[in-house]
Amino acid sequence: MFKILKKEELSDVVTLFEIDAKHIAKKAQAGNFFVLRIHEEGERIPLTIADFDRDRGTITTVFQKVGKTTYHMGILNEGDYISDLIGPLGIPSHIENFGKVVCVGGGVGIAPVYPITKGLKEAGNTIISIIGARTRNLLFWEEKMRKVSDELIITTDDGSYGRKAVVTVPLDELLNKDKDIKLVVAIGPAIMMKFVCKTTEKYNIKTIVSLNSIMVDATGMCGACRVEVGGETKFACVDGPEFDGHKVDFDLLMKRQIMYLDEEKIAMERYREKMGGVI
Ligand SMILES: Cc1cc2nc3c(=O)[nH]c(=O)nc-3n(C[C@H](O)[C@H](O)[C@H](O)COP(=O)(O)OP(=O)(O)OC[C@H]3O[C@@H](n4cnc5c(N)ncnc54)[C@H](O)[C@@H]3O)c2cc1C
Ligand code: FES
Repeated sequence: MFKILKKEELSDVVTLFEIDAKHIAKKAQAGNFFVLRIHEEGERIPLTIADFDRDRGTITTVFQKVGKTTYHMGILNEGDYISDLIGPLGIPSHIENFGKVVCVGGGVGIAPVYPITKGLKEAGNTIISIIGARTRNLLFWEEKMRKVSDELIITTDDGSYGRKAVVTVPLDELLNKDKDIKLVVAIGPAIMMKFVCKTTEKYNIKTIVSLNSIMVDATGMCGACRVEVGGETKFACVDGPEFDGHKVDFDLLMKRQIMYLDEEKIAMERYREKMGGVI
């Protein structure tokens, strides 16, 4: 059993948990994720290790409430327990001194891009970060991202905070004027990562994305997370979750992400009924 030590509401739909998980914190690296099951009959869901503290033996995760399990997580409180956590999983991010790097986080993707940005900064890179969300209320970790960036650009789709634009607009401008940028790292909704890659392709800048395909076992056995990269089938859980974005078939990823939409809706409706409509 794993105790929730801290709970913080980062926005109406995004929540942070700091969890006591010594065995995961000990080995965690930027880019890793873990799988949790709230209780013995719960489904397994993958979440990124958004931060970790080896001395305290804790991991931090930031999750967006999108369906049954994440809504259920949202009603847990500090002091409550999660039944199972396995990790760290996935291949850690490749961190080295590339020179100048742009890190892009969209929506809840700001959380997984943070540890990579921090690692790249510690490795001596000059970091320009772009964080974006639909509206101001959905933005979080501005100060945390600022601390690990040399420059931080904020965008909102509706202009309620920062620049009124999608993240690809300042990205395009940066790539157009600064020929020293060597790498772009982008994490967010698949559609955002697709358009970031279309933007960087024009400038031939290597782009790393982290794929949030549906996962079941997360050990490379079931094939649920399969994605196509460079015309080859890869399993995001063991071959990724990070890949060369220019080689990813994003349309296939998006098609596979909505494969169980009907079942997910039914599960959410049943959960809502069970909770007496309070969710
Ligand atoms: C490596 C990885 C890291 C992730 N990190 C984060 C994170 O840090 N924060 C965060 O908010 N979300 C993250 N996700 C997505 C998160 O796993 C899903 O939002 C979650 O599983 C939804 O479960 P649900 O029951 O609440 O919603 P559901 O109603 O089951 O699903 C809602 C949507 O979430 C996706 N989803 C559903 N089940 C899974 C599953 N088992 N695996 C992956 N996606 C699924 C589908 O696209 C679906 O349409 C990550 C996914 C992957 C693969
Ligand atoms: S989740 Fe089963 S192979 Fe990746």
